[in-house]
Amino acid sequence: MTQTVLVTGSNRGIGLELCTQLKQRGFDVIATCRQSSTALKGLGVDVIENVDVSDFESLAALAATLSGRKIDWLINNAGIADGIAMDELNEDTIASCKRLFEVNSLGPLLTTQALLGNLSSGSKVGIITSRMGSIDDNDSGGSYGYRMSKAAVNAAGKSLSIDLKPKEIAVAILHPGWVRTDMTGHNGLIDTDESASGLLARMDELNLDNTGSFWHSNGEILPW
Ligand SMILES: NC(=O)c1ccc[n+]([C@@H]2O[C@H](COP(=O)([O-])OP(=O)(O)OC[C@H]3O[C@@H](n4cnc5c(N)ncnc54)[C@H](OP(=O)(O)O)[C@@H]3O)[C@@H](O)[C@H]2O)c1
Repeated sequence: MTQTVLVTGSNRGIGLELCTQLKQRGFDVIATCRQSSTALKGLGVDVIENVDVSDFESLAALAATLSGRKIDWLINNAGIADGIAMDELNEDTIASCKRLFEVNSLGPLLTTQALLGNLSSGSKVGIITSRMGSIDDNDSGGSYGYRMSKAAVNAAGKSLSIDLKPKEIAVAILHPGWVRTDMTGHNGLIDTDESASGLLARMDELNLDNTGSFWHSNGEILPW
């Protein structure tokens, strides 16, 4: 039977490429975004707009739209970045830090919760985090809001992996690599095609024995 996957933040970057490759694999793709793009419209997948992962009402509306529809894979990809240095901490940048938490940390948690009724035994949840959320791997400091928001979503992903195991739903915490997208100003080590194929290989590997793993898209296990 055809598998169904939902990807958040799918109008550009890694999310768009995930949708492209999942469509090529034969999945039924539900691509959610705040606003679609020409590239996403051209993919021929099911696009749901006005989905802001930081907004309760928008997630409730998504859950209502998808009521009764089984989701095999949920990929929480939507995210924002803001590099805030120590000497930049002030009222304005703290407001940015709070926004990073709303989107990067609470977004994946609340999206997963909103769609729990669509997930069932055998479903898988991917959370696109960053190795910048690894406390052990931090050897350059700075990036306060981004690092903290991704460390927090790592904690949420680990708890979800424990809480969803009795329902036989596995959860992966996934670093995409340093990828050339809008987020990085198109700097990076890899393009979205290599990142997305690695991320999907990790989703293939994900099961109830390795649930809760923190993986690089290249398969390396990352330290917390
Ligand atoms: N690129 C890298 O090197 C890298 C490294 C580590 C981790 N990551 C993570 O990978 C994920 C994808 O990043 P990317 O590089 O593809 O970045 P990107 O090109 O900037 O794309 C970000 C996506 O997230 C969406 N988004 C932002 N805020 C949202 C919200 N409140 N609700 C719903 N969607 C929202 C954006 O939609 P709009 O167009 O509506 O803003 C866009 O689709 C992020 O979680 C990021 O933190 C990326």
